Amino acid sequence: MRTVFWENDCLKLIDQRRLPEALEVVSLHTLMETAAAIRSMTVRGAPAIGAAAAFGLALAARSSQARSASELLAELEAAGETLKTTRPTAVNLAWAVERMLGTLRSTSGTPTELGKLALAEAQRIADEDVQVNRRMGVIGAELIADGDTIIHHCNTGALAVVDWGTALGVIRTAHEQGKRLHILVDETRPLLQGARLTAWELQQYGIPYEIISDNMAGYFLRMGQVQKVIFGADRIAANGDVAYKIGTYMLALAAHDNGIPVYSVAPTSTIDLDLPDGSRIPIEERDQDEVLGLQLHGQAVAPKGARARNPAFDITPEKLISAFVTEKGIVRPPFELNLRSLMK
Ligand code: MRU
Repeated sequence: MRTVFWENDCLKLIDQRRLPEALEVVSLHTLMETAAAIRSMTVRGAPAIGAAAAFGLALAARSSQARSASELLAELEAAGETLKTTRPTAVNLAWAVERMLGTLRSTSGTPTELGKLALAEAQRIADEDVQVNRRMGVIGAELIADGDTIIHHCNTGALAVVDWGTALGVIRTAHEQGKRLHILVDETRPLLQGARLTAWELQQYGIPYEIISDNMAGYFLRMGQVQKVIFGADRIAANGDVAYKIGTYMLALAAHDNGIPVYSVAPTSTIDLDLPDGSRIPIEERDQDEVLGLQLHGQAVAPKGARARNPAFDITPEKLISAFVTEKGIVRPPFELNLRSLMK
């Protein structure tokens, strides 16, 4: 089953808030329902929210009462802004919206014809995502050796994309090639995408794993029990700085300090050459209740009245990244040069 798909004239999503307890699919019929699903993280993961946004624009185009193409395009420009402001860090969201609007702006037709084109383009974005992930899986599996123990942070599997996965797609491909792997799954506070989603996926695929709390990674790296660190990316700046799930910077620092390679797996749609370095990547600050709401043995962990901070992503400087895995190949330093030539 895909994570994001079109069926019976509506957008269907796996409700990731319900996992691992229940595998439920929600049906969305409007742009605003799509925006709410992205904001609430019913759907999450950079490529998955990009694809969902594309289908959200198709929903808006198909339900529009516009009498002309220009009227429809004006509506969709506004719809695109609504979607782009749901979550600021993952560039795939803006990338998908701009690709959709670019296709519609460059095509003449009636509102109905443009509505059909919008759905076809969203479907293309979804299908390409799966092909790109499969290709990155094969390319990245070359970096994985039989017997490796790998630390993985957050979730980059089929749930974070349309299907297969980015970094977890590399792990799945290596596993399918017969390489015996062991995954240490960072639980990934505060929303536990590792413990809830990555562990659930690895269980489905029969790949051995153990969950660790994020603050344990340094210990296993220093004990020499880990051969690789692998994760995805939400935005890669022109110099190679990476925005990814909060906690990645500390993980990469500990890996670097112990000489352990760090790989970031992401489609080229995640590379933002407009940003010279990571300092200008917008970091989403989410509701403090995501931090304070944790319970231990059914008891609140934070005292009443406590306040919390909740940046959802951090920036890992390029010097801590050993290589990027993209659908166009493996990119090694100097990233400033090699990312630009890759994108050319
Ligand atoms: O806040 P989230 O769960 O949307 O964060 C997601 C991640 O950091 C992903 O793992 C990332 O988007 C890469 S997805 C292949």
